[in-house]
Amino acid sequence: MPTLRLGDTVPNFSAETTKGNINFYEWQEDKWVILFSHPKDFTPVCTSELSKIAVYEPYFSKRNVKFLAHSCDSLKEHLAWVKDIISYCRHLPSNDLHFPIIADENGELATLLDLFDRFTDENNKLLTSRPLYIIDPQHKLRFMLRYPVTTGRNPKEILRVLESMQICDRIPQVETPMDWMLGNKVLVKSEVKESEIRRIFPNGTQTEFVTCRGAIRSVEDYELF
Ligand code: BEZ
Repeated sequence: MPTLRLGDTVPNFSAETTKGNINFYEWQEDKWVILFSHPKDFTPVCTSELSKIAVYEPYFSKRNVKFLAHSCDSLKEHLAWVKDIISYCRHLPSNDLHFPIIADENGELATLLDLFDRFTDENNKLLTSRPLYIIDPQHKLRFMLRYPVTTGRNPKEILRVLESMQICDRIPQVETPMDWMLGNKVLVKSEVKESEIRRIFPNGTQTEFVTCRGAIRSVEDYELF
């Protein structure tokens, strides 16, 4: 069974989805992809997750992100379930789910993408629990989380991680501290030289703390985005 780790290239694949067949790399274009799998259609937590993520979609689109949902159910089940999700979701701006849901009834894609944990249904069929991958425009796996079946994921946390990665990609000299949120200060990496700090941050940095190895410096992130 292949394993996928952060930094790996996510392999290309073809899939049947609620929006037609896709070739992953072509469908991705030059965007980030949030691939999130769920265990089973028509179940309470999964329905709450897909409808919530649909409400959050505009915030992610602004960040050049496409959503791609997945489960080991059939296309027929997905298409029926989408109607439920739409009616469940009272805050959906349009009457549609814009993102595709992959139908992976026999679990081939889940195996290829290392999405299975040790969770099975009553017939011992392997189902995914709640894995989520963030894949960058170069198809690299940049973030993964795996939540248990009984716990729905948090779109605000996923957006927070995405914004952190995007700011750190744009300015490789910075990183974000624990609980950082967009609008908070970012940290300057400790290896960045004084002369580079002055060049990159002409408005200056703040010294947060001086350790025995040097200063921990921060910058307002609105100066960077
Ligand atoms: C749920 O999403 O609520 C769920 C999914 C799989 C098994 C049981 C419940």
